[in-house]
Amino acid sequence: MSNRYRCAIVGVSGGRARGHAEAFAHMPRGELTAVSTRTAENLRRFADQWDVPHAYTDYTEMFREQDLDLVLVNTPPDVRLEVLEAADLNGVGSVIVEKPLALQGEDWQALTQFAEQSRLKVAINHQLHYQPRRLALQKLVRRGGIGTIRRLDASARMNMAYQGTHVLQAVHAFQPSPPVAVSTSLLRGATGLEPNPRMHLAPDECEAEIRFADGSTARFRCGTNAPADNPEDTRISHHKQVAVTGETGSVQWTMTRWETRQGDRHHHGTHDYHEEDIMGQANMCEAMFDWLEDDTAVHALNLDAALRDFRLMLAMYMSGLSGRPESLEVPPMPDLLTEMRSRLT
Ligand SMILES: NC(=O)c1ccc[n+]([C@@H]2O[C@H](COP(=O)([O-])OP(=O)(O)OC[C@H]3O[C@@H](n4cnc5c(N)ncnc54)[C@H](OP(=O)(O)O)[C@@H]3O)[C@@H](O)[C@H]2O)c1
Repeated sequence: MSNRYRCAIVGVSGGRARGHAEAFAHMPRGELTAVSTRTAENLRRFADQWDVPHAYTDYTEMFREQDLDLVLVNTPPDVRLEVLEAADLNGVGSVIVEKPLALQGEDWQALTQFAEQSRLKVAINHQLHYQPRRLALQKLVRRGGIGTIRRLDASARMNMAYQGTHVLQAVHAFQPSPPVAVSTSLLRGATGLEPNPRMHLAPDECEAEIRFADGSTARFRCGTNAPADNPEDTRISHHKQVAVTGETGSVQWTMTRWETRQGDRHHHGTHDYHEEDIMGQANMCEAMFDWLEDDTAVHALNLDAALRDFRLMLAMYMSGLSGRPESLEVPPMPDLLTEMRSRLT
């Protein structure tokens, strides 16, 4: 009998679950034991294709019966807390929830309360953090390879709910100093705030300046206002980038290229995003197994860190509406989505 960690996926009707399943081939300690999705036909097809022994149309039943160590959650962002609560109640060891974690201040408060009361180990599926190239660049910067960080620039051409949170997390991956204030110079467009089946609700365009406790700053852009890092690639989902400038050098990462400058040394190259991403997904799950084995090996994408990034996102929205800088200490404005829908139209 296998003694690998028993893993499951909730929500296999959409496209994302394929990436989750593919990564198990690169996980020495994990196996895909069970899947759940409400649509019976999709459930059967997915379980057959990926050879998953246990399949359910009800995730709570799966949690009760399968003694799971790790659950990957794909539900829309307004269906997160209820899955976390069911996992917590039914003995699941850990959960990795897809991005975006949630959407507005009320969610942030409810999830903060959950984090305070629950012992469930939770991380957010910002797997880019664990892509091999990103890990190498993050390590170089965190070890002082470009000197003290002065400035970051992070962007994605999809909106905050689709890809903005990936690059917000990337800022944190390179910059450990906590954010203290944010000033939003652009918050425009309500098309992405209209309710849709995916519930990925966010303004169409956002640009903000983040100030960190150590005095450094980051320029953050997400939406169609963000730059295309490869003008020949018109696919909107293919333009995420982060650049970090320090006192003695700089690094840049995009979905296809990387570059480092240290003094007069300059290195650069390309990478295959899909290959990087599958390894990122596998490494991220392996990091959760480390946390399951050792309470002190806290996952880099843990819920507390994600709630801090989520709070920063809310402050960005609030600054865009108020027209003045916002600190992260002020409680989030109620019903921000409705407020933005009416003000940004
Ligand atoms: N990290 C990344 O790089 C990355 C890349 C792509 C997507 N994503 C994220 O992954 C997530 C899923 O994306 P997708 O493209 O697969 O989305 P999708 O097509 O919208 O799928 C949503 C999934 O949730 C299930 N679902 C919907 N409502 C539910 C409910 N009330 N209760 C239980 N299950 C429910 C659906 O299956 P049933 O209807 O059969 O239950 C489906 O499997 C999104 O949050 C997306 O942003 C992340």
